[in-house]
Amino acid sequence: GEVIVDPLIRTTMSDDRGEEPRYRGYAASELCSKGYGIEDVVALLWNKKLPSREESEIIKRIIMISADHGPAVSGAFGTILGACAGIDMPQAVSAGMTMIGPRFGGAVTNAGKYFQMGAKEYPNDISGFLAWMKKNVGPVPGIGHRVKSLRNPDQRVKYLVSYVKNETSLHTPCLDYALEVEKVTSAKKDNLILNVDGTMGAILIDLGFPIHSLNGFFVLARTIGMIGHWIDQNQQNSRLIRLYDYLINYAVEDEREVPEKK
Ligand code: ACO
Ligand code: LMR
Repeated sequence: GEVIVDPLIRTTMSDDRGEEPRYRGYAASELCSKGYGIEDVVALLWNKKLPSREESEIIKRIIMISADHGPAVSGAFGTILGACAGIDMPQAVSAGMTMIGPRFGGAVTNAGKYFQMGAKEYPNDISGFLAWMKKNVGPVPGIGHRVKSLRNPDQRVKYLVSYVKNETSLHTPCLDYALEVEKVTSAKKDNLILNVDGTMGAILIDLGFPIHSLNGFFVLARTIGMIGHWIDQNQQNSRLIRLYDYLINYAVEDEREVPEKK
């Protein structure tokens, strides 16, 4: 008799059963031959539709601008530590990836989520939004930077905001709200600026990307940087890293004798 088996998984994304993979029905080679770029493929696979030319120019800039931020930041440093310990590329890059979280690089999703919520629930009431965030969430995702501030602005943020607002016709209610939040938080403390995670999150919401995709933009972009750091350390035959004592505050007990076990 006929055996009916329930499918194990359901996909709405891609199909490789033909001669080549199809992304949401489009042949990968046809996307290439018709002049689409990697930013269009990202939008197709993550947002299930091809963006307009203007939208894809914004997506491309978001990826370019967040690809790397030097060796000192948590992600790159994690990868460099791995590379110097002789760890292979995928594992060393994943060590860096592990650092992407609520404080570093992984605040894009929640920034987009909460700025969107604020724009809806607390329009024209930034103080109300901040009070709600303090009570229910904690630090506002997308706000604050360890070294950037009003006096030392983050040029990536300045550029992205200016590009989207002056050189495109994108409607930007979420970004506008994030900028209003920044006005209030940065007046309290000058490093509480809109950071690159917050800027990306707000713009991606305005572009219509699903909430769950937003951190993916930092993960994708920063993978480019982390791979670069791994290659860089390997090309230099870098030695194992071990922290010098002067970089550690040993707040420990004085040396003492172990008491007899009772
Ligand atoms: N919202 C509200 N208050 C904040 C925020 C925030 N987002 N960030 C810092 N503060 C306050 C803290 O409560 C603290 O206040 P206090 O002095 O009264 O205790 C003060 O500012 C200093 O806070 P720290 O955590 O010491 O600041 P630090 O410079 O170490 O933090 C960080 C930088 C981790 C980015 C922080 O601002 C934060 O958590 N922001 C939200 C998460 C985020 O957006 N991360 C992405 C950063 S961009 C990137 O990684 C690419
Ligand atoms: C980054 O893009 O990695 C930075 O904004 C984080 C940092 O602390 O500089």
